[in-house]
Amino acid sequence: MFLLQQEKSTKTNNMDFSNEKFRELLDQSYKMIEDWYSNHLRDKKIYNNSSPEEIRKAFKIKSKNEKTNPSDVIQHLNENLIKHSNFNPSPNYYGYITGGGNQVGILGEFIKSALNQNNLKWHSAPANSEIETITIDWISKFIGYNHKESGGVLVSGGSVANLMNIAVMRKMKGNTNLSKNGVYGNKIMRVYVSQEAHSSIDKAMDTLGLGTNNLIKIKTKNFKIDTKSLRIKINEDIKKGYEPIGVIGIAGTTNTGSVDPLKLLAQISKEFNLWFMVDAAYGGPAASIKKLKNVFEGIEEADSILVNPHKWMFVPFEVACVIVKNKENLRKTFSLIPEYLLGGTENKDRDDLMNYSIQLSKDFKALKVWMTIKTYGYKEIKNGIKNDISMAKYAYEIVQNDSCFLPIHFPELSIFCFKYKSKIKGVSDSLINKKIIDMIEEDGRVFFSGTKINNENVLRINCVNHRRNKKDVEFLFKVIKEIGIKAEGVLLKS
Ligand SMILES: Cc1ncc(COP(=O)(O)O)c(C=O)c1O
Repeated sequence: MFLLQQEKSTKTNNMDFSNEKFRELLDQSYKMIEDWYSNHLRDKKIYNNSSPEEIRKAFKIKSKNEKTNPSDVIQHLNENLIKHSNFNPSPNYYGYITGGGNQVGILGEFIKSALNQNNLKWHSAPANSEIETITIDWISKFIGYNHKESGGVLVSGGSVANLMNIAVMRKMKGNTNLSKNGVYGNKIMRVYVSQEAHSSIDKAMDTLGLGTNNLIKIKTKNFKIDTKSLRIKINEDIKKGYEPIGVIGIAGTTNTGSVDPLKLLAQISKEFNLWFMVDAAYGGPAASIKKLKNVFEGIEEADSILVNPHKWMFVPFEVACVIVKNKENLRKTFSLIPEYLLGGTENKDRDDLMNYSIQLSKDFKALKVWMTIKTYGYKEIKNGIKNDISMAKYAYEIVQNDSCFLPIHFPELSIFCFKYKSKIKGVSDSLINKKIIDMIEEDGRVFFSGTKINNENVLRINCVNHRRNKKDVEFLFKVIKEIGIKAEGVLLKS
């Protein structure tokens, strides 16, 4: 009743615009985005190699900025933003493990900001809270992680998700009274993972006070953890008086997209009573593919996992999830409720997601994930994943049939490493591949990041992008060969 009597115009400041002006600005933004997607995906440089100085100059704001017309602000972006960005929605982008971002997810981000939810407590973001739980439940089932008591939260990315997972491991298997006393005065805790682990696991060990020396990197065979060495190392550590607390399996390594033997890791973890965690940040969604079921076998036995929808579920940045087999363990690790956050807690049907997370204030990440799932469903997301794997395999085929290149491995998922073979006496493969990576960046038609395998620079492509087809992959190799010849010329002269 009261609301109906309230005056419509409540203008108290100059920040909001008239409805008409707001619509005009929305239209202007839509047009810019539409232009990116209709004119920049192919046949344009996706990387302009601008210098930091050029970018700073383009976006400089005077210290006491006067007002700027918002249409001019958007026009400024129209002229400068894509020009100084790396347009990773393009199928010519093969860098890191970056997804192309689906279009309904873009709308999700837009709508989310308009609603400006703060998902700290259920009553501060009711639809948001329930939608987040629904999406996590859906993702769990999608990858075959089906447990009655499981649950989790969405976070910014895999690095934070790894940190949270290891915090849960430390809490559940580490020294008692750790929250109050810290890690001091007890046995030294140790965690085991393969040499191919993502650096965020080292960072987490450091941040959590466990120490990177206590992250034991086990050697690999074909880029997968060697379980014999793992068992030997755990036994040795127990004899030396250390306290092993957990084993981390990788479901899709960053360098080569290899999946550890998860079933065996689950068995070893049980045998030694250790927490079994799976870093499925990248590869997790591929567990939904029938043909890959045996590759991912054992993922369902993990005590906790992480999956990044912003990688292989094609959702725009940023969103990852932490999922724990028994959600209560997540609560035990992260719940802390001061007086000012008590509101609404007596209603047991409302689950406050702040109790399961490091974060308090949190945006409505779940919306773009929910919209992606709802729009594309199992079938389209799986099709995207299958297509990406077939593009990596197509790249492997090209490399195998071209004497200029040498494959480093067969792509198990969508990442593939290979090298351009040096034809110059005295110039190593490593040197020429390093040069190619630098020159690819200068060229800007395609983008990929290299890596080091066995201490040698190699070329590495990540094929996560639902917009890619065989012609795009052929274009990539045409560019690499062209740059390879140029790199040879430069190195010959030097
Ligand atoms: C296996 C693995 N774990 C964790 C991460 C970190 O994820 P994010 O970049 O979202 O922090 C990555 C990133 O590529 C990864 O490949």
